[in-house]
Amino acid sequence: MQTTVFSSEQEIARTAGEIFCGFARRKPKAVFGFATGSTPLGVYSYMASEYRAGRVSFAQVKTFNLDEYCGLTKDDENSFFAFMQENLFSQTDIQAKNIHFLDGTAANYNAECRRYDAEIAAAGGLDIQLLGIGPNGHIGFNEPGKYFTEGSFKVKLSQSTIDANSVYFEGRDMPQYALTMGIGSIFRARKIILLALGEQKAQAVNEMLRGKITPRWPASILKLHDNVSIFLDEAAASLVRDIV
Ligand code: GLP
Repeated sequence: MQTTVFSSEQEIARTAGEIFCGFARRKPKAVFGFATGSTPLGVYSYMASEYRAGRVSFAQVKTFNLDEYCGLTKDDENSFFAFMQENLFSQTDIQAKNIHFLDGTAANYNAECRRYDAEIAAAGGLDIQLLGIGPNGHIGFNEPGKYFTEGSFKVKLSQSTIDANSVYFEGRDMPQYALTMGIGSIFRARKIILLALGEQKAQAVNEMLRGKITPRWPASILKLHDNVSIFLDEAAASLVRDIV
């Protein structure tokens, strides 16, 4: 893992965004894995501005998102699909036919997860996966547990995640379940960029970088991957300043 501490969120967004743009320029049919949450917003905004400036096209890239809430349709304002549509897809030339998402309203979740894993495999696997991290060390929606997960699956969200994400669900209960790529699916990405911003991520970053590899801190598995870049702001790096 290569860890870099940046002095501003903008610098992280530009650096990570430029990696995705560079991929699209060199390999127009690149396969991108995207994340939701507040952390990657600057990256998407950078990619959109590069597209508007005519410096990159995403017309042929394929995209796969990490996760989706169970029970929310694509046009639900709280769905991760709607988030991506608003913040990236509608702002660029990414083609609807190239966008892949887990369907949180599928009748058979197990079949839906197998379909999604097969689509990732058919696309040749993920060239690059963008990740945030939960305060409890989750990546995607792989919550702390007793073992590392493999392919996509239905997960019961932890109380920590519900507490962290319920702010987005004004006036309604947030779903308690989600579909998510598994740790195995994420791990097979050829390159991974994980971003962490803010003091509330400091403990998870500390466990990921310094702790032992354990499913109790799911992101700790990334230590075994040979192409991971971790981008931190000063606050997220506050407990690891002696080693990075
Ligand atoms: C969400 C997502 C993750 C994301 C994390 C952190 O629940 N499933 O992919 O990385 O929580 O979100 P934020 O960036 O808003 O802190």
